[in-house]
Parts: sequence; structure tokens; C-alpha cells
Amino acid sequence: MIKQLLKRLAARAGYKIILKKTGPSRFTDQEQRDEAAAMIRLVREKRSTMVGHEGLFTLYRQARYCEKEGIDGAFVECGVWKGGSVGIMAQVNLAHGNTRRELHLFDSFEEICEPDETVDGERALAEVKNYGGSSGRMVALKGIYDDKGGPGTVEDNRRLLIEEIGYDPDCIHFHKGWFQDTLPERHGDIGRIAILRIDADWYASTKVCLDYLFRHVVRGGFVIIDDYGAFDGCRKAVDEFLASRELRPFLHYVNEDIRYIVKP
Ligand SMILES: C[S@@+](CC[C@H](N)C(=O)[O-])C[C@H]1O[C@@H](n2cnc3c(N)ncnc32)[C@H](O)[C@@H]1O
Repeated sequence: MIKQLLKRLAARAGYKIILKKTGPSRFTDQEQRDEAAAMIRLVREKRSTMVGHEGLFTLYRQARYCEKEGIDGAFVECGVWKGGSVGIMAQVNLAHGNTRRELHLFDSFEEICEPDETVDGERALAEVKNYGGSSGRMVALKGIYDDKGGPGTVEDNRRLLIEEIGYDPDCIHFHKGWFQDTLPERHGDIGRIAILRIDADWYASTKVCLDYLFRHVVRGGFVIIDDYGAFDGCRKAVDEFLASRELRPFLHYVNEDIRYIVKP
């Protein structure tokens, strides 16, 4: 009413009023790239991630989307190593979230277990050949991460997430052990999941994460598979899982290794 009246009065006086929408100022693409670059720099300087720039930048955008669109639920990673990817999600929540998210970190917090030579493929066998067997046993392959700074420990993750990033320790949940033991026991306590990031390399490890956690991801949430293009077993686990549920979601391509889906 008032707008119409003002417009009429202005028109009579020979003026035209143009109304512009006001609101929060737009966060430009350049500002996003700058913010993401600073967050990525922090986790890289601490040598806390094996994930490349595209993977981390996409994760930044996914976490930001969850904050902006109010996608409800925890941020979860299976296979955290030294916590760099979780560190991106934590920083986005601190910068853009209205409330703190629960962070769930699943890992052995020692070296990875053996692949299974019957499903995991040539590349997996080549990666582990100097460190142990390939019979799918749940034993840590000692030394496999030595060239990257050793296995990721709970202490490494605490240092990054609490001391460097300043995340609330009460919202960080460490699930230490083989997924095959921790997930059946703990998955029911996690509640809704906004982002499920699976970075577990092998068939059996990827499969158990999907079997127990996919159902908790909310509609519109993200399921990220770090090793889909890297290891045959990981790809097989994802393809079989989706086929068994008659799901045919579009697999978004991040780089030659990483794919993600938006939960239908
Ligand atoms: C490639 S690293 C993860 C990299 C990490 N996401 C990053 O940002 O650099 C894989 C991790 O998964 C863990 N992992 C793989 N299979 C596992 C299993 N079945 N149970 C527990 N931890 C597992 C390994 O111990 C290792 O820390």
C-alpha cells in the first residue's frame, strides 16, 4: 500500500521510484575462492591431508551449501588420517554455521588394513606390496604412511581441530578402531548426517561405511567417495551398493579419483 502510494506521488511529480531488494551482501566467487584458499592453506601447512586442491575446494563448497541452505546433520568422515578434510568442514561451520555441527571421525588411527587381492585390483596391490599382505586381514600395514608423516593419530586430529582451528571439543567424536567393529556399534548414535565423506580406499572398508551410514544421510545431503576412480574395489563397493538399492544417482565428478552424489 505505502509503496504504491509513494510511487503514485512520485509519478505525479515527474519521478519514477525503482525499488531494489536489500538483503545480506552477496559473497562473490572471488571471495569464496579467497576464503577457501585460506582454509586449505591452513590444513596443508600442517601436512594434515592427502586430498588435492579440487577435492578440498569442492568440500568447502559442499559444507558451505549445507550451512547456507540449512541442510541438517553431522559432518562425518570415515578415513580421516590426520584430519585435514574434517578441518575444512570445521572451518566452514565456524565461518558460516549458526550452530556448531557434530563432527564424527572414524579411523583406526593407525595404518590402513590389508586390501583383498580378489577385489581391490592391481593398483591397491602395488601400493601395499612393501608393507604386508593382501588377504583382507584387519592388520595395520606398518610403514605405509611413513613418507607422508606417519599414520594419523587422535592426537594429530585434536591438535588440528581444537588447537589450530578452535573447534569445540565437545562436538568432536573420535571413533577409534576398524570400521567393521566401530560402525555396527556406533552408527545408531550419530543421528542425521549432512555430509558423509568416505576415504577408505578398499572394497570392504567402503562397503561397511555405505551399509551403515548411507541411511542416515538426509535428503539433499552429500555422500563423497574419495577413491571411486582410484581403486577397483572402492568403485565396486559403491556400484554394488547403489544397484542393491535400485538407486541410479548422477555421480558428480571432482577429479580422476573423487565422485559424490547428492542423496536423492
Ligand atoms: C587415505 S587415508 C584418509 C585421508 C584423509 N581423508 C585426508 O584428508 O587426507 C585413509 C585412512 O582410512 C583409514 N582406514 C581405511 N580402512 C579402514 C578401516 N577398515 N577401518 C578403520 N580405518 C580405516 C586408514 O587408517 C587411513 O587413516
